[in-house]
Amino acid sequence: MVWDSGRLQGESVSTSRKTLGQVRGLYLHGSASTLDDDTVLYTVEWLAPGGLTEGSLLWGCTHLNPGRVGDEYFMTHGHYHAISSRAEYYLPVSGSGVLLRMERDGRTWAEEMIAGKVHYIDGRHAHRVVNTGLEPLIFWACWPGDAGYDYASIAETGFGLRVVEHDGKPLWIEKAR
Ligand code: F6R
Ligand code: ZN
Repeated sequence: MVWDSGRLQGESVSTSRKTLGQVRGLYLHGSASTLDDDTVLYTVEWLAPGGLTEGSLLWGCTHLNPGRVGDEYFMTHGHYHAISSRAEYYLPVSGSGVLLRMERDGRTWAEEMIAGKVHYIDGRHAHRVVNTGLEPLIFWACWPGDAGYDYASIAETGFGLRVVEHDGKPLWIEKAR
């Protein structure tokens, strides 16, 4: 493992990548964007040494590229954990952005992500990362093997905040509730 560059090595490393074509609908002006479907938004590398079992821990790293879809910064899909008692740590090592956290009732807030900070995410909170910088935002994560993912709720309701560029700076836009 190379901490600062967020790289895992070895045969047991799994990798996934998310392209714009897979998540265009999450962005407010996704369908109007001329960016190619093949544009890579982020990659995730992870290890599951104990399998996806109760009591095991997963360890992974996300590389979220800089960029925007319209005026909205590149972001992860975001999810709740399928088991709501399963918390998670996010540990940024490079780049800058925000971690959005949301309660089931839609209440959303943003935590600034910078290298060296540690974010503890309550298992009941949806979590999404937004890259507001010019470099890849790289963060490690540690979460329980049986946490699972609920992406459908996010695809349906989105988060209570969107992060867009306005006059060259990030601006938080609240969704009407
Ligand atoms: C695992 C976790 C991270 C994310 C990754 C990509 O519980 O939170 O490893 O899976 O940052 O984000 P999503 O999964 O929202 O596409
Ligand atoms: Zn998670």
